[in-house]
Amino acid sequence: MIRDANVNDVPVIRDLINSHAERNRMLFRSLADLYESVGSFKVFEADGQVVGCCSLHVYWWDIAEVKSLAVHDDHQGRGAGRELVKAVIEMGRQYKVGRIFTLTLEKDFFVKLGFEQVPMDSLPLKVWSDCVHCPKQDCCDEIALLFELGGK
Ligand SMILES: CC(C)(COP(=O)(O)OP(=O)(O)OC[C@H]1O[C@@H](n2cnc3c(N)ncnc32)[C@H](O)[C@@H]1OP(=O)(O)O)[C@@H](O)C(=O)NCCC(=O)NCCS
Repeated sequence: MIRDANVNDVPVIRDLINSHAERNRMLFRSLADLYESVGSFKVFEADGQVVGCCSLHVYWWDIAEVKSLAVHDDHQGRGAGRELVKAVIEMGRQYKVGRIFTLTLEKDFFVKLGFEQVPMDSLPLKVWSDCVHCPKQDCCDEIALLFELGGK
């Protein structure tokens, strides 16, 4: 089941994200950062437990990012990741954002969901704010993908 995240979910969201970040699959997020952005998160619940999360970070009128997508190891391969990305795409539609991008190591997963690979430098400068905190900023191995919503 997908639902909006609330403040009680934040410690679980932090653990989900950081368990993958420890394996260099995504960026760490702090509790402070997550409480501030809890309104942008969807969570996936299975048997009453939060086992996945994903957020939509709106940068500007025409662009947003699928951010902090994480599914617990024991629940991967059962459609949670797909449902979470579909839910944040729907958020983007409601917000009337024109384009949603992601920076990821999981290119094939996002291509299955309709994202298309684009050159990194085609994304506006505004979206690079997180790179300042990234340990891989000088050797980035992520791929940029874009989903066109049309906006308006
Ligand atoms: C990537 C991740 C979110 C996928 O979540 P998931 O719940 O396992 O994925 P789903 O079960 O919803 O898979 C949806 C489809 O994508 C496919 N898929 C899943 N992971 C894939 C991968 N790594 N590469 C290619 N295809 C993948 C599935 O086979 C499924 O295909 P189908 O529709 O043909 O059956 C999850 O593996 C994860 O949390 N990884 C670690 C964190 C991470 O890398 N996050 C992304 C950062 S941007």
